[in-house]
Amino acid sequence: MGNFEVPAATLAAITERVGTPVYVYSADMIRARYRALADALAPLRAGIHYAVKANGNQAVITLLAKLGCGADVVSGGELARALAAGVPADRIVFAGVGKTRDEMAAALDAGIHIFNVESEAELEALAEVARAKGVVARLGLRVNPDVDARTHAKITTGKAENKFGVAIERAPAFFARAQALDGVRAIGLSVHIGSQLMELAPYREAYVRLRSMGEHLRAEGYELRLLDLGGGLGIDYDGGDGPRPADYAAMVAEVMMGADFELAVEPGRWLVGTAGVLLTRVIYEKRGAAKRHVIVDAAMNDLIRPTLYEAHHRIEPVAPGAADPLPADVVGPVCETGDYLARDRVLPAMASGDLLLIRDAGAYGAVMASTYNARPLVAEVLVDGDRWAEVRPRQTVEDLIALDRVPDWI
Ligand code: LLP
Repeated sequence: MGNFEVPAATLAAITERVGTPVYVYSADMIRARYRALADALAPLRAGIHYAVKANGNQAVITLLAKLGCGADVVSGGELARALAAGVPADRIVFAGVGKTRDEMAAALDAGIHIFNVESEAELEALAEVARAKGVVARLGLRVNPDVDARTHAKITTGKAENKFGVAIERAPAFFARAQALDGVRAIGLSVHIGSQLMELAPYREAYVRLRSMGEHLRAEGYELRLLDLGGGLGIDYDGGDGPRPADYAAMVAEVMMGADFELAVEPGRWLVGTAGVLLTRVIYEKRGAAKRHVIVDAAMNDLIRPTLYEAHHRIEPVAPGAADPLPADVVGPVCETGDYLARDRVLPAMASGDLLLIRDAGAYGAVMASTYNARPLVAEVLVDGDRWAEVRPRQTVEDLIALDRVPDWI
């Protein structure tokens, strides 16, 4: 679906009014990606729940909610964001290994569609919270299918040693316990084997196991209606197409052929990843004996993916200069050797003030930012055709200082 090209005039206006670093998102691209996925999944009638964790800006969630997309949330905070963005409660699924009783209560009050429960202890807690409110909580069991998603170790979730879900063979015992409890109704199974999956084979393996456990539970007499297939569909950080929704949908159709389960998916990165860039300005260029460093105003606190996952983000000068192209590390001002955005990239000579664009930063960019080194959170902008708006103003140092309290006894 190509790259997100910020129109030159818009880009100039944004950097002049909002400054850098700034995340810029494309409304058109998010809409196009949602529609492509929804069209591919339409024959399966699978519900789409956007994984809010990928990009939780209210404008982004609102945009997707207006297209009819549901939400996958993993905290009380994300639940509140989804509701505030207008996602109907009955299109919200709540996942996560550590839901607190307060978060469960808030989700029950809102009337969410389903909880994806990840342990027996959570099942007992949910039943208690629901009983205290005199309601019944719908739930699906997140199973761990012990499949290797063949992605980065820090975002692999479906191996037996990972903290997520309950081993799939324990599902019958879990359903038996759920049936014995008042306050809960177990109606589904869910699976999520990892993020940034570039191959369909691991999904197929997991879905075959999911279907067969779903059918086994039905045969045992349980009301098993829903299979939640999770998220994780990857994007090509080198600019290619990556796995296509049509191929994913065809694989699901084949695995689920003849089974009549309601289906759901939880995509995050695939919807918003390629639809965002991070704009940063060069502060200095420094040529040492062993390396050339381009020092920019964005840093690991603004985009942590390169240093945390060895993630590759394409990086391009906005005004392509031809002079003196040489490999360089693009680094931020933070006092850590791990503070890099790109390593060994061929870039032309850069002058102070030159703009660089870091691609595919729409997912797990701004949401993972911190204020390390007392660096305020950067601005976020949404572009829609020739309109644009600041959807998160840049935080100020005064905002940061005002978050703290100094006791008068110091
Ligand atoms: N559903 C569940 C239960 C999840 O844990 C996740 C992501 C998703 C759906 C959405 O996955 P997606 O479609 O976006 O791959 N910070 C990492 C990614 C962490 C993903 C965590 N879970 C990164 O920057 O690559």
